[in-house]
Amino acid sequence: LDEKIWLFLSFGMIMGFMIFTGYQAVALGMGPPSHKETIDPQKVDETAPFDEPGIKQIGENEYEVVMTLQVFSFTPMEIEVPAGSTVHFTLTSKDVVHGFQVANTNLNAMVMPGHIQKISQKFDEPGEYLVLCNEYCGAGHQAMSTKIIVK
Ligand code: CUA
Repeated sequence: LDEKIWLFLSFGMIMGFMIFTGYQAVALGMGPPSHKETIDPQKVDETAPFDEPGIKQIGENEYEVVMTLQVFSFTPMEIEVPAGSTVHFTLTSKDVVHGFQVANTNLNAMVMPGHIQKISQKFDEPGEYLVLCNEYCGAGHQAMSTKIIVK
């Protein structure tokens, strides 16, 4: 009888781990890229929210920025928020793989065609934050930049 109990317990533990891993992958969005939000890269301009790229206030100190990346620019070109704001970025690429890196912050994301990238950042210090593409995307890669102004 003793042995059967141990067998049952170890089986139960394995099942528990499997359920936990499955939960992490699905519920916490840690699964492979195919499980993340996708978009048709040919129809970015017609697909919400990218049909209206721009900045929108969604809370007292909260902003949403919907942005497209394309060779060799960011749309919208310039973003301005008050100091202390948390900005939620929703990003996609209209062509090739680009990068979204913001100087003096931890923001650093790969932006791939067909995928929607969501990242957030709180901007406490006023200033001009340089936004750079940090994935080689062609002849104009070096010039692909914009800025976020925090006032
Ligand atoms: Cu876009 Cu490099």
